[in-house]
Amino acid sequence: MADDRPRWREDFPVRWDEDHYMTRRELAKFLTLGSGLLASVNVLIAFIGLTGRAPAAPVRRIAAADEVAPGGSLLFRYPSDDDPCILVRDAAGRIDAFSQVCTHLSCAVVHRPGDDVLACPCHKGSFSAREGLPLAGPPTRRLPRIVIERRGADLVATGVEV
Ligand code: FES
Repeated sequence: MADDRPRWREDFPVRWDEDHYMTRRELAKFLTLGSGLLASVNVLIAFIGLTGRAPAAPVRRIAAADEVAPGGSLLFRYPSDDDPCILVRDAAGRIDAFSQVCTHLSCAVVHRPGDDVLACPCHKGSFSAREGLPLAGPPTRRLPRIVIERRGADLVATGVEV
């Protein structure tokens, strides 16, 4: 019976069935290099996180200082046009501003002037209009405060306190 294997197989006797096996040494080298690479990337990310600066919040005019009557409120956007906020002036003239996004499931809170509350209509949550602290309903985190300064005749937003 004639051998039907090609002649090159005799010249290059590679055992293909064992070709996919990886030696222990190769596996250990792969794991060591892979772990080292991951550790290096983590150190780099930590370094960037510790040394990088957060972008400064913009300074933006919100309204004229006398534009909001005592007991009233005003909607605005800060720090970007995608961030709805609410400014509230109580009966004594004190001004506070907060993100309008409810910390429960992100519905928009509205001002209830009678009891100085920011109310969320979605699940009956409410927040203090002075501190932004949750008062009732499912929210457990306070609303981010928008820092408002009076500059001349204007009210200006200068930052966000999370
Ligand atoms: S989204 Fe505001 S209480 Fe649920």
